[in-house]
Amino acid sequence: MKNYRNLEENSFDFNDKINYIYGDNAQGKTNLIESIWMLTGARSFRGTKDNNIVSFEAETAKIDGKLFFEQRDQSISIFFANGRRRVFLNDIPRTYPTEIIGKFRAVLFTPSHLALVKDGPESRRKFIDAALCQLTPTYPQLMVKYNQTLKHRNILLKNSQMQNIKSGLFEVWNYKLAELGSKIIKKRLEYLSRLEREALINYCEISSGKESLKISYISSIFKGDPSTKSEAEIEKEFLHYLNCEQKRDEKRGFTSKGPHKDDLEIFLQGKSLKQFGSQGQQRSAVLALKLAEATVMNQLTGESPVVLLDDVMSELDETRKNYMIESLENWQTFITGCEKNLVSSFENLKFFHIANGSLVE
Ligand SMILES: Nc1ncnc2c1ncn2[C@@H]1O[C@H](COP(=O)(O)OP(=O)(O)OP(=O)(O)O)[C@@H](O)[C@H]1O
Ligand SMILES: [Mg+2]
Repeated sequence: MKNYRNLEENSFDFNDKINYIYGDNAQGKTNLIESIWMLTGARSFRGTKDNNIVSFEAETAKIDGKLFFEQRDQSISIFFANGRRRVFLNDIPRTYPTEIIGKFRAVLFTPSHLALVKDGPESRRKFIDAALCQLTPTYPQLMVKYNQTLKHRNILLKNSQMQNIKSGLFEVWNYKLAELGSKIIKKRLEYLSRLEREALINYCEISSGKESLKISYISSIFKGDPSTKSEAEIEKEFLHYLNCEQKRDEKRGFTSKGPHKDDLEIFLQGKSLKQFGSQGQQRSAVLALKLAEATVMNQLTGESPVVLLDDVMSELDETRKNYMIESLENWQTFITGCEKNLVSSFENLKFFHIANGSLVE
């Protein structure tokens, strides 16, 4: 890599098991994790624009990853210049940066995820959508199209107060939105049923109990459990809603329901974890979910995602920390922290010290 934020020109040879990167604050730990995350083709998890990625002292930046996926050694390179990125897969330039999504996969875990249960719905939607983008090649495009259609419908809704818009025009957008939206909901439901199974196993192990964990998809469109519905049924109900609610949406000036408003709710022993769970139960549930995300990715693709844990270890107590390390033993993992030591009794570990953007093994 070169000129990636404060990281100097550097090449690293990482362990295929656990890599622990330690160093003081503001030395470049999160930058390193972010650069690895970028190789998945996603945007920065810090919500930064691509031109902020380039070092203050340079015009361009690059990341080169020698990776193993699809059963062979491959490479992904990303160049950042003029606020844009260009991607290369095995040295061949790709037209769209999104073309590398779903090649190299990673699961990211940062302290902000620890509040996943308590946070607003947006972060939970992001949690499933980010995983689905890596898992389903058509999902990123589906999201883009849905959001574009939603935007069009919202513009139309806003303008309808001032101009007389033909109802036929709405019909077209309602139909399109329902078609795309139902696909999104169905994909989310399929993913969640797998995630729930794995999260339950993890949760029981972390809490060394037998509490039942359930994840429900809270649809803004219909009441009750949507998991048994077919895509066609979802589409029909969504379309019905859009048509019936149109006059009210016109007054609101936006589309009030749809997958962009949906949420997840986690239940422990039938009780809402958000409303009744203790801090510790909520943390354990997030750990269980994050590890489940990695397991499901492995099940569905036959490959192990790389696990990126930025700064979360220091936030966890000894029991959860150990559970985490033991669970990650067989995955390539990057862990960052400020302390020199991670856990005492662990062998398959490579240590790196980071200071002022340079990394030493
Ligand atoms: N485009 C950039 N060019 C140069 N330096 C940058 C750029 N963007 C961010 N930085 C700097 O990189 C430094 C390291 O940031 P980073 O978030 O990686 O630290 P960290 O090691 O994770 O620290 P902490 O332990 O506090 O989380 C910061 O001082 C920040 O100002
Ligand atoms: Mg950091």
